[in-house]
Amino acid sequence: MDVKKVAVIGGGTMGNGIAHVFAMSGIPVNLIETKQEFADRALSTIEKNLDRMVKKEKINEDKKNATLGSITVFLDVSEGVKDVDLVVEAVPENIDIKRSVWEKVDAAAPDHAILGSNTSSISITKLASMTGRPEKFIGMHFFNPVPVMKLVEIVRGLETDDETYKIVEETSKKLNKVPVPVNDAPGFVSNRVLMPMINEAIFCVGEGVATAENVDEVMKLGMAHPMGPLRLADFIGLDVCLDILNVLYEGFKDPKYRPAPLLVKMVDAGKLGNKTGEGFYNYD
Ligand code: CAA
Repeated sequence: MDVKKVAVIGGGTMGNGIAHVFAMSGIPVNLIETKQEFADRALSTIEKNLDRMVKKEKINEDKKNATLGSITVFLDVSEGVKDVDLVVEAVPENIDIKRSVWEKVDAAAPDHAILGSNTSSISITKLASMTGRPEKFIGMHFFNPVPVMKLVEIVRGLETDDETYKIVEETSKKLNKVPVPVNDAPGFVSNRVLMPMINEAIFCVGEGVATAENVDEVMKLGMAHPMGPLRLADFIGLDVCLDILNVLYEGFKDPKYRPAPLLVKMVDAGKLGNKTGEGFYNYD
């Protein structure tokens, strides 16, 4: 099956990036949000990121306009998924919100439609069990900023079938991404490796080993990371980092994943990184 139309549910940081790359690859997108103002914000972010690409001469104005023109906004999940071949859900990492979305999608999407989640921490097998088609359920884990990062971690749940995997792998390549298959496990591969590094960087700051700036300098200049782990933690969101570490800690019952006390405190204080204007750095 060729994916000819996709529904992207959620227009936040990840959702608008996912809509951007599908639309730019020529696959029309139904972008589903809960309120018009959220949809408008998503569209204006996509337009801003397309403008950046026009300025860098990666695409021309025609391509920008065609990309924007192939995104249609829906404020109702059932309406937005009824004529698509693939659904990619990028709603907040809250199990109750996800359940409510997946129950609606399962009831309204065509029988042949593949159901993909961009979750970074919730079990794909668990999400799949919220639908009547676990064999068609899969993780499509994109990375921020989606238009730039090449990876899609494709996560197979316990019952995901080979055909679903193949279609999602082919579709990811059409987006000019590199699909990497992994099996369902806490944090998949990406966050199982990334989050302990970020956590250890936070322990270093909390224990007074070095300042946040100096920890980041060590990793940027010594290990050639494009951003230091603390700047990256701010970029991802400290609340998201804490949630993922808790998933690893609870999933493996291994103390090596215990969240750094400083991370917990910062989240308690509402210092969540870029999105709140303050984390390990200030973003005024
Ligand atoms: N849309 C389109 N293009 C964008 C963009 C966006 N949102 N953001 C940046 N770009 C482009 C820029 O135009 C620029 O293009 P050129 O190479 O053609 O000049 C390029 O990306 C680099 O951007 P900048 O020059 O502005 O800035 P930079 O060199 O500092 O790079 C960065 C910014 C790409 C974010 C880089 O710092 C980076 O790769 N950081 C690491 C990001 C990362 O690790 N992301 C994964 C987070 S984990 C996650 O998402 C999943 C999870 O489950 C937690």
